Amino acid sequence: MEELSTTDFMAKLVALCKRRGIIFQSSDLYGGINGFWDYGPNGVPLKRAVEQAWWKNMVEDRDNVEGLDSTIICHPEVWRASGHIEQFSDTMTDCLECKKRYRVDQLEQPGVCPSCGSTKLTEPREFNLMMKTFVGPVFDEEHAAYLRAETCQPIFVDFNLVRIATRQKLPFGIAQTGKAFRNEINPRFFTFRSREFTQMEMEFFCRDSESMEWFEYWRQERWNFYTQTLGIPENKLRLHWHEKLAHYAKAAVDIEFEFPFGWSEIEGIHHRGTWDMSRHCEFSRQEQDCKVFDQDTKESFFPTVVETSCGLDRICLMLLCNAYDEDTAETKKLDQDEDLRVVLRLPARYAPVQIAVLPLSKKLEAPAIEVRKGLQQKYRTAYDDSGSIGKRYRRQDEIGTPFCVTYDFDSQQDQAVTVRDRDSMSQERIPISELDAFLATKI
Ligand code: GAP
Repeated sequence: MEELSTTDFMAKLVALCKRRGIIFQSSDLYGGINGFWDYGPNGVPLKRAVEQAWWKNMVEDRDNVEGLDSTIICHPEVWRASGHIEQFSDTMTDCLECKKRYRVDQLEQPGVCPSCGSTKLTEPREFNLMMKTFVGPVFDEEHAAYLRAETCQPIFVDFNLVRIATRQKLPFGIAQTGKAFRNEINPRFFTFRSREFTQMEMEFFCRDSESMEWFEYWRQERWNFYTQTLGIPENKLRLHWHEKLAHYAKAAVDIEFEFPFGWSEIEGIHHRGTWDMSRHCEFSRQEQDCKVFDQDTKESFFPTVVETSCGLDRICLMLLCNAYDEDTAETKKLDQDEDLRVVLRLPARYAPVQIAVLPLSKKLEAPAIEVRKGLQQKYRTAYDDSGSIGKRYRRQDEIGTPFCVTYDFDSQQDQAVTVRDRDSMSQERIPISELDAFLATKI
């Protein structure tokens, strides 16, 4: 693919995602709402496949991590204990000329509006990112509640219930995936910084003396998830170690991906010390639920927490950026009907459609549907009989379908179909009876 500027690349990706029903702006009919995104019919399978891969890797494949699905709204004290109500804020400034609002730390030139160039900016002010609502029929401060700004706090709150129910002993983890909400001042880069997004977090509870070993273990595990499970090339990923640490933390590192708009965080691995459990102990005054008892010393202590925290939307965006490609020469040579081929080179496991069944003519609908039925239980499939075969290939390429199976007039005689590979565009004749086995080795 020829080099594109960041703006051009992102514009093309955003347009493709809308055109093909992968991701589009929420409330598009009303002009959209900034920082909110809907996943369409071809986005949901991608998002779910990534979430399932994470859940399998972090929970199902391990004996020492348990799952949780907590509510989005918790007791408001949770957010006082976590420090979010007091401290979860960004410093912002308003341009008095064009009325735009910015995060001070994101201004390219301090004191200058990036939009209109004015230097008439307000004094920096703190802006809390928590989204507020009211619980019950009375809309006053007493009934105020917050949409969770991170999924991990309910994990700390439910720590002891999970520990007792599962009879887990330290060290063990609790994981959950779910929505988080932040009133971001400047949502940007498509879904990268949204106001509503999905987090996938795991809090690992251990003794302080072993916490750095676990930190290193999880850092490696999470790196492997991106390179091995998701297939992201190592050279597109890097670690960014935090120099400034919270007073209670021993280490913090981000995994960053090289997005078209620069290296940016997709996951943080944080040593959180005993901060969370001690704060919830202080605010709830339920010491027995926040500490664990040491049989040897006969003393209770706060577990130390090592956290892995990533954003599902950012991972999907990373996969889409990594997969987006355009080719011209190859297209002309092999399919011969359009100049530019847009293709998402997604790994088969995450492609919205894994196999598309395409009858060469509408007359072949019945046997082609039979072929699809044979694949549908095992793979994500689609059926498309409208337009020329070249156009249908293009549509499938644009959503990243790795294999197209064409049923043609010879198929009825030789009981075979043509399998076309998205990346090489090569075509192979495969007997229908061997199709499942053939595709199973590839997907
Ligand atoms: N519990 C720790 C925590 O929430 P964070 O660095 O604020 O840490 C963790 O967020 C991850 O959540 C980030 O690495 C990112 O992938 C995702 N995330 C955070 N804010 C986001 C936003 N506004 N839009 C999309 N994803 C976001």
